[in-house]
Amino acid sequence: LKVTFVQDDGVEKVIEDATPGQSLMEIGRFHGVAGIVGDCGGGCACATCHVYVDEKWQAVIGKPDDIEAATLDMVSEICRDNSRLCCQIQMRKELDGLRLVVAPNL
Ligand code: FES
Repeated sequence: LKVTFVQDDGVEKVIEDATPGQSLMEIGRFHGVAGIVGDCGGGCACATCHVYVDEKWQAVIGKPDDIEAATLDMVSEICRDNSRLCCQIQMRKELDGLRLVVAPNL
């Protein structure tokens, strides 16, 4: 499946073989996307996998749950309506073609 990460430096990392079932944090890290750190290993605790979801994809991706929203509060100064922690999003067929902008690291 295809997913594009737009890094904070403007470079676009296009991944053509994203594996369904993996989190987008794991996929981003595996492919060396700058700014996808994943310090907590996907535990929804560190906010180092923060991304902005492209407008077109917001409906299918959905909103963060309460736990994720609480972690996003740690980086509230750079949060937007379309902020998500990408360790909490599993790659799946419906997300083929997804585009994410990597949030700056604080
Ligand atoms: Fe830590 Fe996503 S990897 S919150």
